[in-house]
Amino acid sequence: MEILSDVPMPEECASRILEYSGREVAPQGGQNLWQKILQHKWVLSEKLGRDVGTHVSCLDFMENIEFRDHTSQESEKIQFLKKRGAMRIDRDIWETISETQPPKKIVNKRIILPFTEPELALKHGVVPPRALIFFGPPGTGKTHFVRAIAGVLQWWFVEVSPSDLMAEGQDRIGANLKKVMEKIGEMDNVILFIDEFEEIAGNRDDASRIDKSITNELLKQIPILKKQNKRNLLVCATNYIGQLDAALLRPGRFDCIIPAGGLDTEGRKTIFEHYLSNTNKGEVDVDKIVSMISLFTPADVEYLFQKVRQITFEMEFERKGNSLVTTETFLEMIPKVSPTLTLEIIEEFEMDCVKYTRY
Ligand SMILES: Nc1ncnc2c1ncn2[C@@H]1O[C@H](COP(=O)(O)OP(=O)(O)O)[C@@H](O)[C@H]1O
Ligand SMILES: [Mg+2]
Repeated sequence: MEILSDVPMPEECASRILEYSGREVAPQGGQNLWQKILQHKWVLSEKLGRDVGTHVSCLDFMENIEFRDHTSQESEKIQFLKKRGAMRIDRDIWETISETQPPKKIVNKRIILPFTEPELALKHGVVPPRALIFFGPPGTGKTHFVRAIAGVLQWWFVEVSPSDLMAEGQDRIGANLKKVMEKIGEMDNVILFIDEFEEIAGNRDDASRIDKSITNELLKQIPILKKQNKRNLLVCATNYIGQLDAALLRPGRFDCIIPAGGLDTEGRKTIFEHYLSNTNKGEVDVDKIVSMISLFTPADVEYLFQKVRQITFEMEFERKGNSLVTTETFLEMIPKVSPTLTLEIIEEFEMDCVKYTRY
């Protein structure tokens, strides 16, 4: 293997590969590749019984070996993602969120732009976040926001629920988490989403021995993920931010802790109109109805629409005439949906916002 010790400097390797094969490679990877090319030259020469030369070896290696490895890595990645139920999300989901709905602006500036404008981010020393937490009362749109981010970036969306991690028994949670995080951490263009995060990352003081090991695993895995220079995100969501282990919430672990909730009238109206546009509707006084549902979360609005649509569907089935959802239909159904938000929940959420928000 004498020839393998004669390897030029990284930049030199990269420029030779470019010259011989027309393919551009990063200088760091170039040296490693050059070694493989020299090895390939030796194998090829042995096979053909003559010295094939560096130029031909490089060309053959880049065309037939390196490219084939690359595609098989890509298909292995896709296989892993599909096995985990990974999805592609429509870009349009972002448009169902009004500009004023928190945390749309924060998400756009702090999460999406650093990935879509990498040169500008680099110029200003802005490091894209890699690990995030969304918190807020149930149904406020935490999952919706994470899906919207995957849609805008056109990344894979992989959801791992605490029950998936527990499928092979309580004592395998930490190991499963490690496996998934290590694998996804190496991939580009993926969001790993863990919902109901408090279930696996609860406070270590009042958790069992197993729970402690999971939180410890996360404390280990998050810095590893962040050290890799990849385009991926770990996003965790919780309804109970106060229940998370304090060590996880300290700066240095999660880059952003973002509240989802606090819908204003415009935000509620955008969601309302989004659902209304897919409803068999007649005259609807949107402003009046929206003013009556100030304690509704987006999930409650969705449920209200499920109810009004069911009514007109059944009416039309019985009477056969065209049945329309109108202001009256909403007035009838609103009292039958109990809103998730109460003044106490809002107050508690506002206190959590002050205490935990960071981005
Ligand atoms: N602009 C919006 N913001 C948040 N949720 C929305 C919006 N428009 C529609 N929705 C719907 O409202 C529901 C919100 O629930 P979800 O995101 O699951 O809440 P959480 O994860 O906070 O419990 C989802 O069904 C989502 O599709
Ligand atoms: Mg959710």
